[in-house]
Amino acid sequence: MFETIDISPRVGTEVKISKADLVSGKYAAEIEDLIKKRSAVVFKGMGLSAEEQLEFAGTIGTVTLLGENGLSKISLDPTVSDTADYTRGAFYWHIDGANDLYPAKATMLTAETLSEWGGDTLICNTYAAYDDLPDEKKEEYSRIKVRHALEATQRMVHPDYSYAELQRWRTRPSQTHPLVWHHKDSGLKSLVMGATAYYVHDMSREDSDAFLAQIMDYATQDQYVYRHKWTVGDLLVWDNTGTMHRADTYSLDSKRLMNRTTLEGEEALS
Ligand code: OGA
Ligand code: MN
Repeated sequence: MFETIDISPRVGTEVKISKADLVSGKYAAEIEDLIKKRSAVVFKGMGLSAEEQLEFAGTIGTVTLLGENGLSKISLDPTVSDTADYTRGAFYWHIDGANDLYPAKATMLTAETLSEWGGDTLICNTYAAYDDLPDEKKEEYSRIKVRHALEATQRMVHPDYSYAELQRWRTRPSQTHPLVWHHKDSGLKSLVMGATAYYVHDMSREDSDAFLAQIMDYATQDQYVYRHKWTVGDLLVWDNTGTMHRADTYSLDSKRLMNRTTLEGEEALS
């Protein structure tokens, strides 16, 4: 069994497949292709164990060895996750690893515990958003470079940050990326922005803030966004190179828990 149902015209496809076929990699090529073309792929109620998730992930890429052999616990509960503090940054649109030269190729989550309210995951297709731009905007944006830093996200999470916190965030990598990512393998282009976008080079603070807000409004319009409403056991995979994603608000004391695996980026964002 391998059936696909497109959820909306521009983003999101549900795949119906048996767990055995998913984990064995029998349809790995088809699934990889769907992730690229549809940005977000959902396997409802798949209920993968940690081992099964890692096995599946290995069929479509190289698993990043973080957490327990590639499986990270994503939660706001510091007794469950040692990166709980950074998880709050996921409430804002972002690209995983945008502060690195090689952002993750794809990210996948299995829902283990749901939040009492909120907590949907949203994914927007930034290939489609780029594609729809008028030619003069494509030309203008091709010259724009944006600084990405953890501090940009963390300033939103901790508006009352101390000097010591700022210094700590600044020990993490930051990058200057082009606004338009020209993917060498596919020839496609996507927009690179989100919560890590700190400022636009060669613009005043006012102009930079206005520019980034405007382009975020544009790229996150409904037609580019898939909203996943979770059921325990769902597996959601997104192409991290041509999307942004975020978690919709949920209670800060929620036990919501996602098992997360990322695949190594294959192309430098330059
Ligand atoms: C992530 C992430 C969103 C969510 O794990 O990278 O952004 O809904 N998660 O938990
Ligand atoms: Mn993320």
